[in-house]
Amino acid sequence: MGVHVAVVGATGAVGDMIRRVLVEREFPIRSIKFLASEKSVGKRVEFAGKPYTVELLRPEAFAGVQIVLSSTPGSVSKEFSPIAAKAGAIVVDNSSAWRMDPDCPLVVPEVNGAELHHARKGIVANPNCVAIPLAVALKPLHDISRIQRIVVSTYQSSSGKGATGLTDFDAQLKPYALGQPVPAPTAHKSQLAGNVITLDWTLDPNGYTEEENKVVHETRKIFGDATIGVSPTCVRVPVRIAHSLAINVEFARPISVEEAKAALANAPGVALMDEFQGQFPQPIHAEGSDTTFVGRVRLDPSNPKCLNLWVVSDNLRKGAATNAVQCAEELIRRGIVKG
Ligand SMILES: NC(=O)c1ccc[n+]([C@@H]2O[C@H](COP(=O)([O-])OP(=O)(O)OC[C@H]3O[C@@H](n4cnc5c(N)ncnc54)[C@H](OP(=O)(O)O)[C@@H]3O)[C@@H](O)[C@H]2O)c1
Repeated sequence: MGVHVAVVGATGAVGDMIRRVLVEREFPIRSIKFLASEKSVGKRVEFAGKPYTVELLRPEAFAGVQIVLSSTPGSVSKEFSPIAAKAGAIVVDNSSAWRMDPDCPLVVPEVNGAELHHARKGIVANPNCVAIPLAVALKPLHDISRIQRIVVSTYQSSSGKGATGLTDFDAQLKPYALGQPVPAPTAHKSQLAGNVITLDWTLDPNGYTEEENKVVHETRKIFGDATIGVSPTCVRVPVRIAHSLAINVEFARPISVEEAKAALANAPGVALMDEFQGQFPQPIHAEGSDTTFVGRVRLDPSNPKCLNLWVVSDNLRKGAATNAVQCAEELIRRGIVKG
């Protein structure tokens, strides 16, 4: 029993986490292979306590594979995901290449898992690492009263930039702490140690970063409602892992704090942290966890139809690897892939 799996981009920050999450969740595997670029061919990666040799990502590698978990740059996914799909696999893709394609569902299983049935290209897109926790935290509230507008400011960790982001940030930390010259940034757009960077992404012609535009369009697609207003500001902060989100959300009718907290306390994938018990979500809570932590639930003093919340989530886990593996589990559970 189990399925034939290929992990593409297996040597990256997300690919590494996918290997761990597959083991932790006891994903049903009949065979597994690990693919990456030429640079990594022959490298050893560990999976379930055993060493595996990384193979080259090439069309022939998909023969007999049923599920591909892909975490490469978008340009690589654009080329190889259709090849994998043509070979008969379903691809769950972490890049942004397919997220807005109308034939590729953009799935957060707790929110819109039924969309998995509409992967007309054989590709399921995993949303951006901000859009996922935003959707997980807001879905239980959207079910009470329709969301009309979201204003979100993000506090995003270095690892959102991948393995090279973390290497860059780690190299800056010690010299910064010792008051020594900090090496020039190699992945982030500016020094991150002791700093925050609001332009750590490509700037789009509309004056928003690529990341901010993803948050707008992906949130609407996940909720299936193009009328939801989304106003984002994305910022990189000197944290290794886990993104934080300050959210102001406007509903069609007012929701009380008590009503919101009751819904969040029972929502799948969410942990409500109560400030009156001295608790509030922090990246150090989220790192290593698949839970979306929600706290600081407050009525907006300027608008009775709005709530303020603070949300924290591990960007490598629920923001990428765990959500992708959950999608793969759902593909089997729904009979879309035969296990
Ligand atoms: N980091 C996050 O928090 C996060 C969250 C959500 C989504 N994502 C998305 O997930 C994807 C991977 O992100 P990451 O953070 O894991 O990046 P990463 O650490 O830079 O890893 C990239 C992976 O892609 C592989 N790759 C690059 N070029 C390739 C090629 N030409 N052929 C085959 N494999 C190639 C790399 O293999 P080599 O080592 O051989 O180069 C590596 O395994 C990106 O699209 C990113 O936007 C990331």
